[in-house]
Amino acid sequence: MPKLDLVVGARPNFMKAAPVVEALRTRFPDWDVQLVHTGQHYDRAMSELLFEQLGMPEPDVNLGVGSGGHSEQLARLLVALDARFASVKPDMIVVFGDVNSTLAASLVASRMLIPVAHVEAGLRSFDRTMPEEVNRVLTDSISTLLFTTEASAEENLRSEGVDPKRIHFIGNVMIDTLMKHREAASAIDLPEQLGLAGKPYAVLTLHRPSNVDDEKAFQRIIGAIVEIARDFPVVFPVHPRTRARIAASEAAAAATNLILTEPLGYLEFLSLMQRASVILTDSGGIQEEALIIRVPCVTLRWNTERPVTLTGGANVLVGDDPGRIVSEAHAALRGDRAIDVEPPAGWDGCAADRISGVLGDWFGSKIAN
Ligand code: UD1
Repeated sequence: MPKLDLVVGARPNFMKAAPVVEALRTRFPDWDVQLVHTGQHYDRAMSELLFEQLGMPEPDVNLGVGSGGHSEQLARLLVALDARFASVKPDMIVVFGDVNSTLAASLVASRMLIPVAHVEAGLRSFDRTMPEEVNRVLTDSISTLLFTTEASAEENLRSEGVDPKRIHFIGNVMIDTLMKHREAASAIDLPEQLGLAGKPYAVLTLHRPSNVDDEKAFQRIIGAIVEIARDFPVVFPVHPRTRARIAASEAAAAATNLILTEPLGYLEFLSLMQRASVILTDSGGIQEEALIIRVPCVTLRWNTERPVTLTGGANVLVGDDPGRIVSEAHAALRGDRAIDVEPPAGWDGCAADRISGVLGDWFGSKIAN
């Protein structure tokens, strides 16, 4: 029976992998489906808590790779994954998204001639200064099966010369997870606990190196946030990468309406997003979640690899332009930003089932051959 290693490492991987593990183990109870955690993210709030809330099984193995410079982290990932795949000899590796663990696992697997399935393939920001863009391009180029979330992804892959037979439009597994947990998140009263009941407020996330590690960009964004917080509360769960910067920011310390929190659990963050008037973010996945929960999104980047979110006014790109950040956020907080969009095709809660169907066929035809 097929032996699969599903490899996860960083926070945004977990909500994508959860429904796929469940779908595969339910549909193919006799397959050996193992969950491999590289340990790229290791804080309880960045990892363990999400596993618990998402109802994910404990990883079968945690490689404990941890942080470090990107090269050091990648090198450790390659060595650890090489040892894992060499001893287990999986028939397929499944990887998710665009983090360093995704690239490392696909690279090691391809060297060992193990087929790779990439969930969330084909997205392109066309900005090679982002580590995630390089991870996406490289992972796709060595993957056997490419599972896409939106039409642009298939166009990108075709224009890169990928054999269309390798591309499978399956929709968005992260939305499977969102739909499954929406109700539980609604029952959490985090906005009330923060004193935000019935008030318009903004939620902010910020962790891209281009926004956080670049002093000028960081100051421009924080300046705009402080200005928004003069009129409306802004809740900001601070990513570990951003912690030192925000602690050193006098402007942030002086802002009365800027509510800083530790990274939140999946359900707490979803409860906060669901009741927000606007979401300001430089994350990829949050742009998609915002569309489904119909909360206006203001993306603190100049590009997005998820262009479907730009339809119907669901998402606007404002980069680090303080004037645009403030005006777009204020428009949403005053209720002046209408969203006119239906959920994209395949963002329907059934994406993981479609993946298990494709994998069943793929292994079925292998056995038949
Ligand atoms: C990674 C992903 C990014 C994703 C993000 C979500 C890459 C290239 N980037 O970025 O695409 O959007 O995860 O969070 O893979 N740290 C902790 N505790 C942890 C994890 C990290 O303190 O559990 C700190 C460490 O100081 C570390 C820094 O955060 O050096 C950055 O972690 P890293 O995994 O390199 O990248 P992220 O910025 O989290």
